[in-house]
Amino acid sequence: MKNINLNIKNAGAFIDDDVFGKFIDSASKNLKLLESGKGAGNDFLGWLKLPYSEEFREINRVANKIRSQVDTIVIVGIGGSYLGAKAVISAFESDFLKEKPEILYAGFNLDGEYHQQLLEYLDNKEYAIIVISKSGTTTEPALAFRLLKNHIENKIGKNKASHRIIAITDKSRGALKQLADNEGYQTFVIPDDVGGRFSVLSPVGLLPIAIAGFDVEKIMEGARDIDKATDSSNGFGNNVVIQYAAVRNSLYSVGKKIEILTSYHPKLYYLTEWWKQLFGESEGKQNRGIFPAGVINTTDLHSLGQYIQEGERMLFETVLSVKESKTRLVVNEDKENLDNLNYLAGKDFFEINQKAQEGTIMAHKDGGVPVLEIDVEEINEYYLGQLIFFFEKACAVSGYMLGVNPFDQPGVEAYKKNMFILLKKPGFSKE
Ligand code: PA5
Repeated sequence: MKNINLNIKNAGAFIDDDVFGKFIDSASKNLKLLESGKGAGNDFLGWLKLPYSEEFREINRVANKIRSQVDTIVIVGIGGSYLGAKAVISAFESDFLKEKPEILYAGFNLDGEYHQQLLEYLDNKEYAIIVISKSGTTTEPALAFRLLKNHIENKIGKNKASHRIIAITDKSRGALKQLADNEGYQTFVIPDDVGGRFSVLSPVGLLPIAIAGFDVEKIMEGARDIDKATDSSNGFGNNVVIQYAAVRNSLYSVGKKIEILTSYHPKLYYLTEWWKQLFGESEGKQNRGIFPAGVINTTDLHSLGQYIQEGERMLFETVLSVKESKTRLVVNEDKENLDNLNYLAGKDFFEINQKAQEGTIMAHKDGGVPVLEIDVEEINEYYLGQLIFFFEKACAVSGYMLGVNPFDQPGVEAYKKNMFILLKKPGFSKE
């Protein structure tokens, strides 16, 4: 298996060699700092060990049991407690065929209509609930779980319901842990030293992914392989973590303040969402940080494409470039050719999509947008494991280069405080 690779040929022209040299040194130094465990937020480095954990065996056992019992699973969580699982599951599940078990999500917004419709849909389903919250106190999933707990208990009875609920939370703290203990739910632990957005390779991501029927062992294998290939014994020339961290920070230093993660595969939409959270929450603090945005092409070439081509030149683009596809859908010949598309007859969609990607990269570079390409052989569990762990490591190194603690998120509290005052939560007032 080849490792993912970073192609920077369409970004080099935008970076001065001297400047780049300094950022390569800084990325190498900060990778060593991450490995030493002495950097900021070093009480949250447990994610570095996750690819080597054997817990996936127990996860697979429990997942197989639940899969045989129900036709629907509701994953309750927000931010790092659901985006990783959703990124992987939606990369593989069919857009049309509803496989069993069907995976649904709740607790990632405060929309009454969404949750009302979900409860109505569940009226006629045999379902189980996986509720995920590290803190065990986050309002959105806690509220959704209150609704779902009530619904399932009314539907099948409290005792049976307690065997259909699994909680993934802190080992001892938080309201969810307390509730799980009182009700006798099976639990999985989110380790103390693993933050939400770095938790996809823990039970937070692996249990839902295994329940959906995907191979978590392959994900872990991919993560381990890229971990080894990006330790600090590998210098700039063959270390994608150093390369990515150095290039994006070089571009940031010359005013490229927005990074767009671009994919030509709609199934990677939620991987982009996960990536946006990872980099946004990790780097955006102390008035610093590259703003992470995402597009799915060619769809967004017909919406944001105009801005990327000719708008303000403060952005750069990182394209997730996939080399192979399992699907071959070939364009048919048409005798009449009224649509003038016979020039594409015999070509498959993957090839046409690749040409759209190549043409767009050339256009963006000519339009003043530096383009990095992350080359991935194909979209499977192994390569998603590589991508996830690569992005986590690169994010940590990049955050250190910016001089921030990549593992906290103090700014997230500001909205919560105001919301709690407005909702008159006990213990919260304006003074
Ligand atoms: O990365 C993070 O820590 C956050 O995005 C959390 O994952 C998110 O806020 C959900 O928190 P919790 O799992 O405590 O409910």
